[in-house]
Amino acid sequence: MIYQIYPRSFQDSNGDGIGDLAGIEARLDYISRLGVDAIWLSPIFPSPMADFGYDVADYCSIEPIFGDLAQFDRLLAAVHARGLKLLLDFVPNHTSDRHPWFVESRSSRQAPKRDWYIWRDAAPGGRPPNNWISDFGGSSWEWDEETEQYYLHAFLKEQPDLNWRNPEVREAMSDVLRFWLDRGVDGFRIDVLWHIVKHQAFPDNPLNPHWTADTRERDKLLQVHSTDQPEAHTYSSDMRRLADSYGDRVLVGEIFLPNERHARWYGTPEHPQVHMPFNFQLIESAWDAAVLGRVITEYEASLPAGGWPNWVLGSHDAPRIAARIGEAQARIAAMLLLTLRGTPTLYQGDELGIGEVPIPDDRMRDPQHFREPERGIGRDRSRTPMPWDKSANAGFSTAEPWLPLNPDWPQRNVSEQEADARSLLQFYRQLLGLRREHLALSIGSFELIHSINDTLVFRRTYEGEELVVALNLGSEPRLCEFPGWERTDAVLASVLGAGMFTGTLQPDEGLILQLRPGH
Ligand code: GLC
Repeated sequence: MIYQIYPRSFQDSNGDGIGDLAGIEARLDYISRLGVDAIWLSPIFPSPMADFGYDVADYCSIEPIFGDLAQFDRLLAAVHARGLKLLLDFVPNHTSDRHPWFVESRSSRQAPKRDWYIWRDAAPGGRPPNNWISDFGGSSWEWDEETEQYYLHAFLKEQPDLNWRNPEVREAMSDVLRFWLDRGVDGFRIDVLWHIVKHQAFPDNPLNPHWTADTRERDKLLQVHSTDQPEAHTYSSDMRRLADSYGDRVLVGEIFLPNERHARWYGTPEHPQVHMPFNFQLIESAWDAAVLGRVITEYEASLPAGGWPNWVLGSHDAPRIAARIGEAQARIAAMLLLTLRGTPTLYQGDELGIGEVPIPDDRMRDPQHFREPERGIGRDRSRTPMPWDKSANAGFSTAEPWLPLNPDWPQRNVSEQEADARSLLQFYRQLLGLRREHLALSIGSFELIHSINDTLVFRRTYEGEELVVALNLGSEPRLCEFPGWERTDAVLASVLGAGMFTGTLQPDEGLILQLRPGH
């Protein structure tokens, strides 16, 4: 399992209210006890923080708020000493507008690095070169008064897009990967990988016929020409070749696309691309047994031969799972995440069941909120600090944290849940332990038994061991029987903590059952 840390909000060690690398190092035992395999850190590089680190001003250094390279090396060694892996966040699509490359690029039309970014003349009447819309709303093009051209930014105007068609850019970005791989990192999560190349002729994107005014402005258009270009696949197989030349390293790509196009990011056996294109379908789908049954089957069917699946339940960009489906179902979600075939990714704090965190207007920080305030899409509520214990500021910091804590932090914190055998945290640990013990749960084959009437039931099989996972996604008791079921089958785990199965799933109940040999 991959555990995502949002460094600003994990643990502060120097009393500025913002998390840092020394803080993460101090909490490594917690992560190790949880039973995960790898940690992915959201960006820790120097940044003006217009998009909280996803605007990188220097790819080969550490943001002073978080520490320095020596501290990073200590953290990496401490991670490795615990047998864990460390993945960094590689942000290839764009830099900060304060990155020296962009400062040079915008200095004049003749600047040697002019073509490192995407500059275009205005359309007639001074309009932007095409209709592309930034993911944060508004045109993707920003006018530069000095040099009288527009530059492209798929996100904020403070995040100009790099021109990946330029071989010098590709070489510079390969150097970035080498810099960290040489230091010993185990791989990367690659930010918005499907965005890195745009159609060479910059045609208008087509209108999205399904767009409605209550959804994000970005979705007015289908991003047909601004994303998922063939060359991006070529460049991602270049990244893979580079990573493979270091041996056992992993690349995870952030990719939001429908199954068929998503699956292409695995590449082919001759030209592999990322090991795992992140699969966000548990986040994006309605929490409904029939829907999830279909999503799981279609995703499994879409995987290329040898393509290893993965499932993501939360992130710093998505609403908290417990806020979305409620606390009782968050336990079902934990069981689902850890019993599906493929690598699970868990976002910090979801193991505590942190739910909705109201953020007062004057505490909001996320630029996505400020660009489209009326839509309620601010991401601050999933970026709040980890509550560790009952001490001041939940043990996160000696100072007021940069974002408010979850309001129930005096009860919902790591130390309380460590002391309570029935807590969600302990349930995550139990599930992770079971997943290690029973290979059927991690690498076993997957077979959907049924997904109707609020119940999602599937079988995992490996070398003679058969485990059945039965989940009730509703609030009514549900009969749950199928051929081969035996009443005395052992219950390995239950979200309600009972441990008997009588043929009925209680409301919000989930079970992992071991079918007896020869059933
Ligand atoms: C990714 C990140 C998100 C960021 C965006 C632009 O989607 O996860 O936080 O805002 O890329 O870099």
